Amino acid sequence: MDYLQIKGGRALGGEVEISGAKNSALPILASALLCENLLRIRNLPNVADVKTLAKLLEHLGSEIEWVSPNEILIRSDRIIHTKAIYDIVRKMRASILVLGPLLARFGKCEVSLPGGCAIGARPVDLHIKAMEKMGADISIEGGYIVAKAPNGLKGSDIIFDKITVTGTENVLMAAALAKGETKIINAAKEPEVIQLCEILKKAGVEIQGIGSNELFVRGTDRELLKFEEISVIPDRIEAGTYLCAGAITNSSILLKNVLPLHLEAVTNKLSEIGFGIEAKENTLKITPASKRKAFEIITTEYPGFPTDLQAQFMALATQCDGSSSIEERLFENRFMHVSELQRLGANITLRGNVAKITGGETLIGADVMATDLRASSALVLAALVALGQTQIHRIYHLDRGYERLEEKLSALGAQITRLKEK
Ligand code: UD1
Repeated sequence: MDYLQIKGGRALGGEVEISGAKNSALPILASALLCENLLRIRNLPNVADVKTLAKLLEHLGSEIEWVSPNEILIRSDRIIHTKAIYDIVRKMRASILVLGPLLARFGKCEVSLPGGCAIGARPVDLHIKAMEKMGADISIEGGYIVAKAPNGLKGSDIIFDKITVTGTENVLMAAALAKGETKIINAAKEPEVIQLCEILKKAGVEIQGIGSNELFVRGTDRELLKFEEISVIPDRIEAGTYLCAGAITNSSILLKNVLPLHLEAVTNKLSEIGFGIEAKENTLKITPASKRKAFEIITTEYPGFPTDLQAQFMALATQCDGSSSIEERLFENRFMHVSELQRLGANITLRGNVAKITGGETLIGADVMATDLRASSALVLAALVALGQTQIHRIYHLDRGYERLEEKLSALGAQITRLKEK
């Protein structure tokens, strides 16, 4: 197993190229199951989660060729299995994304109940209810969701009780091949959902309401789709993490290949704290603050402040003046980074889903443990300013979602090395 060793206290500077969005790449890969032609996907992030989903597709029978680490060719016209096995699914919760497309295309499938980041209960009940509403008969057998719809899925009105990103994506893909019209009410409107809608629309599926919380989809009644070449949108969470790297070290960093519009809640917050932000069409620059003010964050669905950047901003709060507060509204247990940040000397108190962070403590390097994907990046950020050396263990969490993290940070001037546990 690998770990990261970081020597803190250095200013950063320079440019960093942002990779494609993991959370867009995953539904796009799953949507390849709806595609009858050879599909080319570019700007894929070279991260473990993308490899896991590609492996799952291969296991189902898709033929896959990696043109480069960031580009793939997929042919899915000869799927031989409809069972997404535990051994692959347990590595990544987003594997649930094959449920909608497999069921819509084959009228049956089995998908292992997912594992993934341990950030609360994270059930998949909303995905299951939606498929049932579309006519599927679903049971849980031996840890698998066993779904059957021998006559295909029927278009239906799906009203989500809670806004769910992958749930909306699953229904979109199912509805694309269902018979008749589906209305998705209380749909997620994250940029990753919008990209999936646009891809399906270009493939000939009638979709209305893109970017709103009410989507309308007219299905093709199991006729497979012809996809055009796809380029994955930039990763707004990776971008936000590098903005935080600039912010926590109070340095100037230029991000390339970003869509600033997707990061408005984040850049507004950074401006409020005191940083300079310069946004152009595909670049974002953060410049140092003369004074870093305490701040308040409440995580919500897009376009609100993303839960996936909550941990990174908590690390940043340790370097701001005064008391900041962060309220986590989406995942009840997404605070596992708190105890690890405390090991570095952070002054944080947690009450329910609200963390109060008193800034101004000097962080001191220590051994810490990565617990989930975004929590791990908060530890990397804190280590960049901690005195002495920090060792971050269990970094396979980071490898799930950050492409070439140590290479990108080193190029910005960080002292970061990947080592093997003895
Ligand atoms: C996606 C993102 C993840 C991000 C999250 C919220 C991907 C691959 N992952 O996760 O990075 O943190 O959105 O922006 O895109 N819920 C239920 N039942 C369900 C489904 C969800 O109760 O069947 C709850 C969840 O526990 C959570 C809330 O709904 O409290 C939102 O979760 P959801 O949007 O579904 O998250 P994911 O799609 O899994």
